[in-house]
Amino acid sequence: MTPAATSQPSRISVRTPSAEYAVTIGGGISARLVGILDDVRFPARRFIVSSTTVWRLHGDRFQSLTAEEPILIPDGERFKTLSTVARIYDALVRAQADRGAGVVAIGGGVVGDVAGFAAATFLRGLPVAQVPTTLLAQVDSAIGGKTGVNHPAGKNLIGAFHQPAAVIVDPEVLGTLPRREFRAGLYEVVKCGVIASRLLFERVASGLPALFARDTAVLLPTIAECCQIKATVVGEDERESGRRRILNFGHTAGHALEAVTKYRRFRHGEAVGYGMLVAAELACVRGSLSAADRDGLRALIVAMGPLPPVADLDATEVVEAVARDKKVIDGKLHYVLPVAIGETVIADDVTGAELEQALRAVGLRAR
Ligand SMILES: NC(=O)c1ccc[n+]([C@@H]2O[C@H](COP(=O)([O-])OP(=O)(O)OC[C@H]3O[C@@H](n4cnc5c(N)ncnc54)[C@H](O)[C@@H]3O)[C@@H](O)[C@H]2O)c1
Ligand SMILES: [Zn+2]
Repeated sequence: MTPAATSQPSRISVRTPSAEYAVTIGGGISARLVGILDDVRFPARRFIVSSTTVWRLHGDRFQSLTAEEPILIPDGERFKTLSTVARIYDALVRAQADRGAGVVAIGGGVVGDVAGFAAATFLRGLPVAQVPTTLLAQVDSAIGGKTGVNHPAGKNLIGAFHQPAAVIVDPEVLGTLPRREFRAGLYEVVKCGVIASRLLFERVASGLPALFARDTAVLLPTIAECCQIKATVVGEDERESGRRRILNFGHTAGHALEAVTKYRRFRHGEAVGYGMLVAAELACVRGSLSAADRDGLRALIVAMGPLPPVADLDATEVVEAVARDKKVIDGKLHYVLPVAIGETVIADDVTGAELEQALRAVGLRAR
C-alpha cells in the first residue's frame, strides 16, 4: 500500500427525506475519526461494534475513540443473525447505554448491517456511524441506511432503514483484505460503472494492477466515484421504490446463483459478476445493448480473475430461483438491463425462456 499522496479528504453529501449526512473519504482518515464524529455532534458516549478479525488487524487505529469496551461479534455471514443482535443489546444493557449513546460500526458489510440494525432498534434508535473496512462495504453497504439480519428462511428478511450519522471511508484499511474479498468488492465497483459511469468502468479496466496492489492514488478516486453514485441514487429514492432499483443490476441472476448454491460457492460480488454477464447477454439478444459493450464487460470480468465454476448448475433451477426473488412485483419480474456502459433501463417483460438462454450463454447447463 502506498501512502496517501493527498491528505485532503473528499466529502460526499447524502440527502434523503429522513436524513442528511456526509461520506468522508481519505487515506489514513481513520486517525481523524474522533474529530469527524465530534463535528457532526455524534453522541459523546460511543460504543464500537466490530468483528474479531477486523479488531485484531485494525483495533489499534480506533483505540482512542472511546474508553468503552468494544463489542466484538464473531466473523462471517452465518453470524448475521438475531442472536448476534441480541449479544449487542446485552452488551449495551450491561454498560447502561442510554439515549445519549451512539454506535460506531467498524467492519465489513456484515458488521455494518448487524450493528446498524442493533442501533436502529435499541431504545427505538441510537445514532450509528459507519466505518466500512471491506471494499464492498466502502462502495456499497455503508451508504444508504439499509440494515438487517438473515433468517433461516432467507437473506436479509429482517431489517430496518436507519441512515447513518456519518460514513468514514479509509482505503488504507483495505491493505489487509484477502485478495478474493477485494475482488468481490471490485465487481460492485464495475456495477457502479455499468449503471452510471463509463469513465469509472474504463478507470477500473485500465487500472486493475494498481487496484489489486491497493494503490491509494488509484483506489481513492475509484471508491469516491462509487460513493457518489450510491449517494445520488439513494438520495433520489431512499426506500427503493423506483430509481434505487438500478443498484440491483447484476443482482437478479446473482442472488439466484447464491441461493441455488446455498450461499457456499460464491462471494456475493462474484455472483454479481455472473449476474452482470447474464444481464448484458439478455440486453444484447434483445438488441438494446451493442455486442461491443457486452464484450467489453465480459473482457473486464475475465481480466479480473477466475470466477467459481457454473457448468454444473441447472439454468432452469436458477430461473425458478429468480421467480421466487423479492424483485418480482405483482407477478412481474423487474430486470435491470444495460443499454450502454454507463446506462441501464428496467424491463418488466423478460421471460423465463430468455433468461434461461442467457444463463446458458454464460456457461450454465440445460436441464
Ligand atoms: N446494507 C446494504 O445496503 C448492503 C449492500 C450490500 C451488501 N450488504 C451485506 O454486506 C454483507 C457482505 O459484506 P462484506 O462483503 O463486506 O463481507 P463481510 O462483512 O463478511 O467481510 C468479509 C470478510 O472480510 C473480513 N474483513 C473485513 N475488513 C477487513 C480488513 N480490512 N482486512 C482483512 N479482513 C477484513 C471480515 O472479517 C470477513 O471475514 C452481506 O451480508 C450483504 O447482505 C448490505
Ligand atoms: Zn451487491
